[in-house]
Amino acid sequence: MTLATAPGKIILVGEHAVVYGRPAIAVPVWETVATARISTAPVGSGLIGVATDLGRTIRLGEAGDEEPLALVARLTLAQLGLSSNPDWQIEVSSQIPIASGLGSGAALSAALVRAIYAHVGQAVTPEAVSTLVYESERLYHGTPSGIDNTVIAHGKPIWFVKGEAPVPFVPTVPFTIVIADSGIGAPTKETVGDVRRSWLAEPARYAAYFDEIQAIVERVQIAMERDALTELGELFDENQTILAELGVSSAPLERLIEAARAAGALGAKLSGGGRGGNVIALVSPETAAAVMEQVTSAGAKRVIITTVGTADSPNA
Ligand code: PMV
Repeated sequence: MTLATAPGKIILVGEHAVVYGRPAIAVPVWETVATARISTAPVGSGLIGVATDLGRTIRLGEAGDEEPLALVARLTLAQLGLSSNPDWQIEVSSQIPIASGLGSGAALSAALVRAIYAHVGQAVTPEAVSTLVYESERLYHGTPSGIDNTVIAHGKPIWFVKGEAPVPFVPTVPFTIVIADSGIGAPTKETVGDVRRSWLAEPARYAAYFDEIQAIVERVQIAMERDALTELGELFDENQTILAELGVSSAPLERLIEAARAAGALGAKLSGGGRGGNVIALVSPETAAAVMEQVTSAGAKRVIITTVGTADSPNA
């Protein structure tokens, strides 16, 4: 039996603008992971996928490319020069909430790629994992920037610009964020499509928003290098203001953000596609508990706390 995992992820700053070539920063969330386990199956059974959480069994070797896991398995097996329908059972499971900005699809695909490589005793680079996972991301998201597959494949914080080599980094001093899930499912494809329509209607106005976001992302990187947490929080708030102007915030997300700030968070913003999904709040050890409590009272369905920059990842 071979087992591989991949973390969830969260975007710190730069979502949406990243689709238009601006930088973004994303971090892995090792508190919530996806897992793939491969065992050899009886001869003639072919490649069977068992999604334990969904109670679904899929004949991966025979499924079409519209099935993301079948696509990833087929591409990975082809990359390794193996038969597309080996007699294996692959069990996939995930703790990562679906369609909420934590990269659930990319993490499942990444765990699957790693498990296939491990099962045949081959090493795999984060870049190779990322490239394979990107193909499945296209099914979920349309034309994704590639940030999800990149951060999840690397398992480290990354500075990301579409089409450029990502820069993994570790912040000088770890910091803690609370991730509060609104419980509202909002497909990224829709918010990305809405922003695209607005940008096409008013290109100059939207390009200016994207430039402002770029300036924030650059200042965030500097703040992380200097351990300037107060400034980092303010930059979260500034990024949120622009995301609201882009039209991707919503009343439930604003309630969570306000609750986090009122409970002493240094800053808070939505993360990912927006409208639903998560908000993130920068917290200190003194404020973490109050922020978690207040966002729960304000409607958060799930709260995760993660420290960015500790070497807790298997790939660190
Ligand atoms: O909703 P998420 O966390 O998967 O992130 C979407 C990020 C966007 O910038 C809105 C889209 C993209 O492809 O980068």
